[in-house]
Amino acid sequence: MAMPSKPDPRPEEETVRYEIKDGVAWVYFNRPDKRNCMSPKLNRQMGRVLDELEFRDDVQVLVLTGEGPSWSAGMDLLEYFRMSEQEGLHATRRSQREAYSWWERLRWYEKATIGMINGWCFGGAYGPLFGCDLAFASDDAQFGLSEINWAILPGGGASKVAAELMPFRKAMYHAMMGENLTGKQAAEWGLVNESLPADKLKERVTEVANVLKKKDTHALRATKWAVRRVREMTYENAEDYLIRAQEALNDFGGWETRREATKQFLDDKTFKPGLGAFDKSKLQGD
Ligand code: ACO
Repeated sequence: MAMPSKPDPRPEEETVRYEIKDGVAWVYFNRPDKRNCMSPKLNRQMGRVLDELEFRDDVQVLVLTGEGPSWSAGMDLLEYFRMSEQEGLHATRRSQREAYSWWERLRWYEKATIGMINGWCFGGAYGPLFGCDLAFASDDAQFGLSEINWAILPGGGASKVAAELMPFRKAMYHAMMGENLTGKQAAEWGLVNESLPADKLKERVTEVANVLKKKDTHALRATKWAVRRVREMTYENAEDYLIRAQEALNDFGGWETRREATKQFLDDKTFKPGLGAFDKSKLQGD
């Protein structure tokens, strides 16, 4: 007979692991035996890890992926829902804050972020999925808003993520039917940038990270924040915001950076902006 699930004895600090290699922080949801579902412990630990990595000089790009066969099977139905609810409203609210706060932090992260979706991706996992600037899935990954299958609505931002990333009819079908999409379908429907055979996924993500690493860090941050901000602005407000954001960028060393890039194009003729990034190693102090 099947044994009822028990709380996970894995220590909090082991629910997330990371390694840093060549400027890329590879961060893993690390509860593979629980399909990397998000417990309060994991949410707290992920908050700490994001905090540790955000301003490190040896990290230019953060990749969020999962240990084992899953990216993340959404919220932990035992530890995040049942146990918090049994403790009372205060515990439920605390658990929500712990989860939502790291997803929000990811949405506005200083460094470029890439979701590498290696397997299951359900419900609450759409929060961090949307938090990542770019996302690449393996063809055999499975994406689902399974909430409707257990009689709740896609909360924790998941409905918003579907409506943001997918055309209306597709978002509605996805949320109402509770059917899964493969990585390939997720790419067609706009949940991820691309889908690749599982054995090519890391290679492609590394390639993308390597391109991002060559960009000016401040310009990259301003760009990704701009694309997120302007979604909810009128055209006029967006134009104005972008002027201000560029002016702020100038104060972050933007003048010198641009002077050097322009010089490499117009005077030295060593690079063409239309064909790749300027050589930032030539910048003083870099
Ligand atoms: N919450 C709690 N425990 C989970 C979750 C979850 N979301 N997902 C997996 N687990 C646990 C299982 O209970 C099991 O624990 P046990 O070994 O202590 O019994 C263990 O992880 C392995 O899971 P299996 O179901 O045995 O793994 P399998 O590979 O057969 O299936 C699958 C994987 C399809 C992901 C399945 O586990 C599943 O349906 N999980 C729930 C997915 C889901 O709907 N998540 C909630 C989305 S809604 C939201 O996030 C608000």
